[in-house]
Amino acid sequence: MEDSLFLKAAFSQKTERPPVWMMRQAGRFMPQYWEIKNKYSFLEMCKTPEIAADVTMLPVDLLDIDAAILFSDILVTGEAMGGDLSFTQGVGPKFANPVRTQADVDNLSVNVLDRLQYVADAIKVIQQRLNGRIPLIGFAGAPFTVMSYLVEGGSSRDFKLTKLMLHNQPELAHQLLSKIAQVTADYLNLQIEAGVNAVQIFDSWAQALAWDDYKEFSHNYIAEIISKLNRKDIPVISFCKGSSVFAPLMAEAKPDVVSIDWNVDLLDIKRRLPQGVAVQGNLDPHILYADKKVIKDRIHRLFDRMKNEPGFIFNLGHGIMPDIPFDNVKYAVEVIKEYSY
Ligand code: CP3
Repeated sequence: MEDSLFLKAAFSQKTERPPVWMMRQAGRFMPQYWEIKNKYSFLEMCKTPEIAADVTMLPVDLLDIDAAILFSDILVTGEAMGGDLSFTQGVGPKFANPVRTQADVDNLSVNVLDRLQYVADAIKVIQQRLNGRIPLIGFAGAPFTVMSYLVEGGSSRDFKLTKLMLHNQPELAHQLLSKIAQVTADYLNLQIEAGVNAVQIFDSWAQALAWDDYKEFSHNYIAEIISKLNRKDIPVISFCKGSSVFAPLMAEAKPDVVSIDWNVDLLDIKRRLPQGVAVQGNLDPHILYADKKVIKDRIHRLFDRMKNEPGFIFNLGHGIMPDIPFDNVKYAVEVIKEYSY
């Protein structure tokens, strides 16, 4: 594991080429995912360690990437706290009992690690299968993003109810965020204890927030979670959509790596971060729909820009879309692996 390009880059050490993994790599763009998905519901897949391990291993075996990511979802913390969660094809996640009042917040549990034990079990199975080949990344949703699903009752375009709670009932919002943050820190420590080699915090919808609101309702809780992690040699990656704006603040929460969206020049933003903070990113995922020549050119453009810059992990600026051709993803990984600084 000491030779892992991913871990070296995460700790800002020099690597002979940038390591590669892709957010949402353990999922629907692979035909093999559907062979499994057609037999089980999404939550059954998450909660059955052997199946979660099968899906985690698909991109490892088919793409030969440099890190695996646990197959699960950011909303399992909300479910463990008492959310009635379901995933419906074409609809996405739903919480049937949205959290909108003081009583709803009071009803949420915080000592819920026994309800998340299946994740620890999956991690152990995955680590047996990986057998030290590459690191395994664990993850959790950031409190603001998880809150948005609990309050809205599912996905949202404008986060109207969530933002109304922040603005009209900030104390209630803080109570809710504190509860989620406590569970999230415990949950990530459970994953570390079970054997993950890195953790990533996903704050997918942070970009909906104004600067002051991001600081008060998102950043502070991420900082609290990171400060509670039993990190030892476990790098912490902080991701949000909106990182091209929030990255300097994200770095203040003391992650090892900040994962950057595609709206910004990666080298420019890295130079604005403190020494020793690595960056991950930041190819526009839509490039993977394009012609192979474009895919190669854009990857080379990014890599040439980041030349001689220790602390760079290749990733997309956000998760891979389900209808991106598998062949293009495979090609992108090949281009990356052939590159040397
Ligand atoms: O990265 C990986 O491949 C690991 C597994 C993973 C999933 N979800 C599996 C999944 C990870 C890291 C997530 C994180 C997640 N989940 C995020 C943050 C990342 C991001 O893209 O911003 C968010 C916002 C969610 C919430 C969620 N889960 C939504 C909105 C949906 C439905 C629509 C969608 O984008 O997928 C899910 C379901 C989900 N999570 C699926 C998978 C493979 C699809 C389930 C299916 O229909 O098979």
